[in-house]
Amino acid sequence: MSMTLRSNRSTLTQFLIEERRRFPSASGDFNALILDVALACKGIARAVAYGELAGVMGNHAAADGGSVNVQGETQKTLDVLSNDVFMQRTEWAGNLAGMASEEMDLPYQIPAQYPRGNYLIVFDPLDGSSNIDVNVSVGSIFSILRAPKDVMESGRDVVEADFLQPGAQQVAAGYALYGPTTMLVLTVGDGVNGFTLDPNLGEFMLTHPKLSIPEDTHEFAINASNARFWEAPVKRYVDECLAGKTGTRGKDFNMRWIASMVAEAHRILMRGGVFMYPRDTKDTSKPGRLRLLYEANPVGMIMEQAGGRASTGEIPMLTVQPTGLHQRIGFVFGSKNEVERIERYHREPVNVELANPLFAERSLFRD
Ligand code: F6P
Repeated sequence: MSMTLRSNRSTLTQFLIEERRRFPSASGDFNALILDVALACKGIARAVAYGELAGVMGNHAAADGGSVNVQGETQKTLDVLSNDVFMQRTEWAGNLAGMASEEMDLPYQIPAQYPRGNYLIVFDPLDGSSNIDVNVSVGSIFSILRAPKDVMESGRDVVEADFLQPGAQQVAAGYALYGPTTMLVLTVGDGVNGFTLDPNLGEFMLTHPKLSIPEDTHEFAINASNARFWEAPVKRYVDECLAGKTGTRGKDFNMRWIASMVAEAHRILMRGGVFMYPRDTKDTSKPGRLRLLYEANPVGMIMEQAGGRASTGEIPMLTVQPTGLHQRIGFVFGSKNEVERIERYHREPVNVELANPLFAERSLFRD
């Protein structure tokens, strides 16, 4: 399209090269890795776009007849395919020391025929895939860490402990969103930039430079079917939002729930808002629903780099010391002032009246 040919927007490659000029000692490995990730995302975008036509919808049937991943969740055919695409596109170039993913129980070793590099990548190849069959936006989320020194020096196999680094140590993080347009959103620790896939050129073009999340919002996202399992500070926050103009907040709020975290993160990046999948009492063996290493940390880094905030509800997400590859955690992120308010509610002593449903807004004992 002539529109494309006349465009003077930067490509992702150009953007990365220009960024690298600021670090003359950089080897170029990092840029090469990001471009491999971008290629994986383009491949997944195509598979997702063909959907039923490519026969890739529905549940994955594993060799053992099962289709459940390490999380105890049903694996979709596209989850497995996306995982394979990610591995295949990134394992060969000598930039990675190892990788880990939602879809693999254990860390993945770079095959012996390829050189090993200095970075680790952790990814969720297809976030939101439980809803893929209804054609909502889904995406891939990734986090890039430096391999521990002894891994770099010895080239040894990676183990789980190598990946257990707090989110603040991420070198880069990003996601690709497969929606009406395919986008790649990336932070290399110097703000957040959004690229839109030009279908004619097959290139990600810089369309959303220096994204910034408004500090205030009147939009929140939470799975309200879990309300009876929420802890008091979350209940208080949501009750106040629902009370709108008539309550202590003095303004009306809007609610959204896509059930695809990457899509919610993108909405918040575009126009603000707050997302909560807090720790709750639904299943006490799970301290939250979302995964720390390949969901909360990368999205957390993006939020913070765009001027938002990411939290467990109590402490900054990026300060959490991970204890397991597939660890779950309560996750609250988005517009800074709202996230800080939720953190404050967690610090304040629980008000018995608020914690008791009989005294809640619009309850038996309130008019
Ligand atoms: O990774 C899990 C996920 O699919 C997220 O993308 C999403 O936010 C969440 O689960 C949806 O959870 P629920 O099914 O409880 O609404």
